[in-house]
Amino acid sequence: MKVGIKNIDANQVQKTALITGTGGGIGKATAELLLKEGYFVFGYSRTNKINHPNFIFIPIDLSDLSQVNDLALPTINSDNVLFINNAATIGSIVPFDKKRTGDIINEYNLNLVSPTILCRKFITIYSEQEKLLINIGSGAANSPIPSWSTYCATKSALDMLTQVISEENHEKLRIFSVHPGIVDTNMQKTIRGTDEYLFPLLSTFTAYHSNNELETTTIAAQKLYYIIRNSNEFTKNILSIRDVNLK
Ligand SMILES: NC(=O)c1ccc[n+]([C@@H]2O[C@H](COP(=O)([O-])OP(=O)(O)OC[C@H]3O[C@@H](n4cnc5c(N)ncnc54)[C@H](OP(=O)(O)O)[C@@H]3O)[C@@H](O)[C@H]2O)c1
Repeated sequence: MKVGIKNIDANQVQKTALITGTGGGIGKATAELLLKEGYFVFGYSRTNKINHPNFIFIPIDLSDLSQVNDLALPTINSDNVLFINNAATIGSIVPFDKKRTGDIINEYNLNLVSPTILCRKFITIYSEQEKLLINIGSGAANSPIPSWSTYCATKSALDMLTQVISEENHEKLRIFSVHPGIVDTNMQKTIRGTDEYLFPLLSTFTAYHSNNELETTTIAAQKLYYIIRNSNEFTKNILSIRDVNLK
């Protein structure tokens, strides 16, 4: 079964974005901001709360590779297409010897295998169009955080994938991995809700929260949008939204 086939016309809308993980958090805030900025947005997640005439929700479990394999990206006639691989999970927060095989598989599938397949689909399907591809990475790619084995490993691999695709110089493609910093979402709530005996850095993350160091999803989305609008300015492929100063 092919899912997600929709066609949109360039006469109706000039800017189109496809975003995974629009059910909540950074993905939802980014989708809402892009809708405000006149984009037509396709959102891919398990749940949806966005209701907008220029938003199409495609229900999908991105940890299920058969659904990802069957996903047909929409035919888009506009000149520019943006894809944001945002959906991810922190996974089960446990020392590595306690990790269940099923969790390892689902976490790799959602955080790495699906984004990799979607990068390839995006580049091939929109070969004629100007493409901006953003993988949402994490500082955890460069920090071996105890009990975050699959999260750190998948984010590290996603950064490398981004760099390899960039080195290949695909036509009409700009690609970035963007690290959002620490953002006030369910992912951070999950981290703070872990028992200390399973997660030795718990107090560090509760302190980020109690010291009000978390970025709001609104500001994170605005900084991501700055990168989208000014992508020609950036020479590196791995970016942090902490480096973006909104005036
Ligand atoms: N928050 C932070 O501090 C932080 C820091 C560094 C990097 N990041 C990265 O930022 C991105 C967004 O994270 P977030 O903080 O916004 O997390 P979040 O609040 O947990 O949101 C995760 C998003 O992914 C979707 N999702 C989860 N499992 C899915 C599945 N199996 N299939 C389809 N969609 C799924 C969720 O929607 P549904 O539940 O509706 O499916 C939701 O929209 C992730 O790539 C994360 O690694 C976040």
